[in-house]
Amino acid sequence: MAESSTQENVGEDNVASVVVLVTGGCGYVGTHTVVRLLEQNVQVVVVDNVAWTTEGTEDSKPKSLQRVEELTGKAVAFHNIDISNGDALEKIFDSYRFDCVIHLAALKSVGDSCRLPLDYYRNNVAGTVTLLEVMKSHQVKKLVFSSSATVYGEPQYLPINEEHVTGQKVTNPYGRTKYFIEEILRDLCTSDPEWSAICLRYFNPVGAHPSGRIGEDPAGVPCNLMPYVAQVAVGRRPKLAVYGNDYPTPDGTGIRDYIHIMDLAEGHWAATKKILQNGSKGSWLAYNLGLGRGYSVLDVVKCFESVSGRSIAVDFVCRRDGDVASSYSDCSLASSQLDWKASRTLTDMCTDMWRWQSINPNGYQSN
Ligand code: UD1
Repeated sequence: MAESSTQENVGEDNVASVVVLVTGGCGYVGTHTVVRLLEQNVQVVVVDNVAWTTEGTEDSKPKSLQRVEELTGKAVAFHNIDISNGDALEKIFDSYRFDCVIHLAALKSVGDSCRLPLDYYRNNVAGTVTLLEVMKSHQVKKLVFSSSATVYGEPQYLPINEEHVTGQKVTNPYGRTKYFIEEILRDLCTSDPEWSAICLRYFNPVGAHPSGRIGEDPAGVPCNLMPYVAQVAVGRRPKLAVYGNDYPTPDGTGIRDYIHIMDLAEGHWAATKKILQNGSKGSWLAYNLGLGRGYSVLDVVKCFESVSGRSIAVDFVCRRDGDVASSYSDCSLASSQLDWKASRTLTDMCTDMWRWQSINPNGYQSN
């Protein structure tokens, strides 16, 4: 069994004995977060059902995790299991003594969630309950949860801070799974002061590791803006459909708060440090992770054209159902309580995204 230590005060120098379970560690947010943890000498164990790829049998690591190991020169224990499989999770918890869990495993397609809501509630909500039950039975009661700014629904004011109402006017089942899980965690922390949970409300994560070795590898046609733009730039798709140019914004296109995936990964490390400190015992906390400013669809297109030297053809089409005109964050709470602030610019995001996309035009299947 891997050793662990109860961390009274986790600083940069005393984390070597920390053992963290990362669910969904093979995915986009997961791989970048695992890199950050390994750089801090944290011992990382990943569980992932690698549903997004044909790779990764019980004995073989998916390419994304192999690349994480190449990048960091460190090993990651990998278990190909689904978080809904309580028996398999029990065995993992019997084999390691975790200090905390970073829970990223989830289905995440907004469109699919509208067609297949039960799949989303089973995987995301019921899967999380299974994970929490196993954690409880092993006395592991610290969780960092991958939430989303989608819990805010239609923004009532801008910039959005954590005081903003959640769970109202959330336009799709995917978003509601994030909201319900936040509430489950809140109830759990209220019921038992040994639990602590930190919900990280991501705005729009984009970009890639600056090495170009790991990045986002969406299955099928990307639904999100930046991966779509990158695929147009690399020639995989002819043009971008811009969903609406009649919004009440300066250029008429939607405004979002894009955050570099490496800044997001650092946010997970900052939250992990906080939760490992005794001070966060018995608490439920939520933090926005964003850049704290908005860019329009056309800002993103122009920036991507400039860093890639490719022109991006666009078609203006109708608004997409469920989209809002503008959304951007106030991240001052994360700055004051987690000592975290996003520092990478839109140019950094596009540059790193383009490096990843041009070296790996077909994602992890490229080479
Ligand atoms: C979307 C999801 C949100 C999820 C997030 C994950 C919806 C309604 N919301 O957020 O629940 O948490 O992704 O990152 O799907 N756009 C285009 N053309 C495209 C794609 C996007 O014009 O092909 C525009 C959108 O209208 C929007 C902006 O680009 O104004 C960003 O879109 P996207 O990347 O999909 O993110 P969100 O809609 O903010």
